[in-house]
Amino acid sequence: MQLDLAITGGTLVTAADMFAADLGIKDGRIALLGAPGTLGGAARSIDAQGMLVMPGGVDSHCHIEQLEPDGGVNEEGFESASRACLAGGTTSVITFSNQFKGHRIRDTLEEYKARARRGAMVDYSFHQIVTDPTEAVLAEDIPALIGEGIRSLKVFLTYDTSHVDDAQYLRVLAAARRGGALVTVHCENYEAIRWRSAALLADGRTAPKYHAWSRPRVVEREATHRAIALAELVDQPIQIFHVSCSEVAEEIARAQARGVKVWAETCPQYLTLTAADMDRPGFEGAKFMCSPSPRDPADRDALWQDLRRGTLDIISSDHAGSSYDGDRGKAAHGRDAPFTQVPNGVPGLAFRLPLVFSEGVSSGRIDPCRFVQLVSANPAKLFGLYPRKGTIAPGADADLVLWDPSRRVTLTQALAQHAIDYTPYEGRVVTGWPVMTLRAGQVVMERDVVTAEPGSGRFLARAPYPMIAPSGRLADGFDASAFPV
Ligand code: URP
Ligand code: ZN
Ligand code: ZN
Repeated sequence: MQLDLAITGGTLVTAADMFAADLGIKDGRIALLGAPGTLGGAARSIDAQGMLVMPGGVDSHCHIEQLEPDGGVNEEGFESASRACLAGGTTSVITFSNQFKGHRIRDTLEEYKARARRGAMVDYSFHQIVTDPTEAVLAEDIPALIGEGIRSLKVFLTYDTSHVDDAQYLRVLAAARRGGALVTVHCENYEAIRWRSAALLADGRTAPKYHAWSRPRVVEREATHRAIALAELVDQPIQIFHVSCSEVAEEIARAQARGVKVWAETCPQYLTLTAADMDRPGFEGAKFMCSPSPRDPADRDALWQDLRRGTLDIISSDHAGSSYDGDRGKAAHGRDAPFTQVPNGVPGLAFRLPLVFSEGVSSGRIDPCRFVQLVSANPAKLFGLYPRKGTIAPGADADLVLWDPSRRVTLTQALAQHAIDYTPYEGRVVTGWPVMTLRAGQVVMERDVVTAEPGSGRFLARAPYPMIAPSGRLADGFDASAFPV
C-alpha cells in the first residue's frame, strides 16, 4: 500500500501499551503499524526519534463560544479555542449547547452547530445543557437531539440561570434513559451556596478568596451524593463533572462499588491550584476562581490517588472563557466587586496535557499509558467516540500528538494561544511538551505554530454504545422512566 505519511522511530503509547513501532497513515486514518523500519513506501515521512507518539487529546468538558442568557457570547470562539487545543495536543472536544430557561433546546442548538461549522479546527460534539425540562423539551427536543447523535445531557445543580431542582433532574434522567444518552452533572448545592454567600456578603467578606468559603467541600459532597442517589433510582448512567476533592470522590467510589454506573472527572486546576491562589494581592485572586473551588495541597495529592485508583478516570479542562479585563471579564464590575459578581471558570485548553503529563508522568505519579487513558482514551470511551478517537489502531482517525517527554517549558499567556487575556499557570515550568499535532493525518501544529483551516473540524455524531445502557437494576423492578410524567 502506498501510504500518505509514515511516522517512524517513535515510541507509540496507547491506553494499554507502550512500544517502539512505525505508523502508516492513509486517507486520514491509521492504516498500519509495523516494527521499526518495516513500513513500505510513503509519500512523506516524519522522524519521531526520541518522541512519544500518542493519540490526540479528547477534551470532554470545555466551554466554547457559549451563548449566555443575557445575550452575550463567551469570548473563546471555536477558532481560537481550536488553536489552543491543537497547540496543546488536543484534537477533539465536546463542548456545550446551552438551553435558556423559558426556551426550547432547538432555539439555540442550530446556532451552535453553525458557529462550530464556521470556526472549528478540531473535531467536535456537544453536551446539551438542560435548564428547563418542560414536557415539550422532554418529549420532543431531547429525543430529536439524541437522534442527531448528541448523546450527552448536562445539568447544573447550582447557578441562578441554570440550576434544576430534584424533580427536574429526575425527569432529565428519565428522558436520557428512554432515549439512550449519558447525563453529566455539576454537583454543588444551590441553596447552600446562596445562603452562605449572603451571610459572607452581610459580614463584609467580599474578596475573591471568599468564593471558596461560599462552597466548602460538604456543599459539593451533598450534591454529588444526591446526584448519584437519584441516578441510581432511575438506573441512568451519569458522569460527575469537575471533582475537587477526595471527600467527593469517596461518594463516587462507594456508588461504583455498589455497581452504579457513575463515572467522574477532575481537571488540572484541582491538581495544581489551591484556594490560597484566590487570596493573591489585589483582585488577582479572581483569575483562579472556578466552581467547585480549588481546595488545599492535601486535596491535590489525594486526587492523584483517586486517579490512580480509577475512581476518577478522566481529566478535562473545563475551559471557561472569561478574560480578566473587558466587558464580560472577571473585573468587569470593578476590582473590588464582590466574589458573587465575578464570572466563574478558568482557561485551560492548551495546558491540559502538558500540566497532566508534567505533574503525572514526569513527577512519577502515573505512567504514560495512564496519561493516555485520562486525557484521551477514557473520554473517548465514555462519550461514544472510541475507537475512532482515543487510540492508535488501524482504522482510527490519524489524530496524533508527538510528545517530547524531556522538554522543559515555562508556561506563558502567549503559549496558551487562546482568546482569554491571561492564564492561571503563568510562569509554571512543565516537563514534557507537544512538538507536533496531526488531525486526520494532516500536520496542524508544529513547534507551537498552528496551521489548520477554520471550519476544517468535523461534527462527531455519536451512535448508541454500551456505557450508556442502564445496568438493569431497578428498585422493585419497576421502570418509572417508561412513564413520562
Ligand atoms: O467555574 C466553572 N467551572 N465554570 C464553568 C462552568 C461550569 O460550572 O462548568
Ligand atoms: Zn460545572
Ligand atoms: Zn464546565
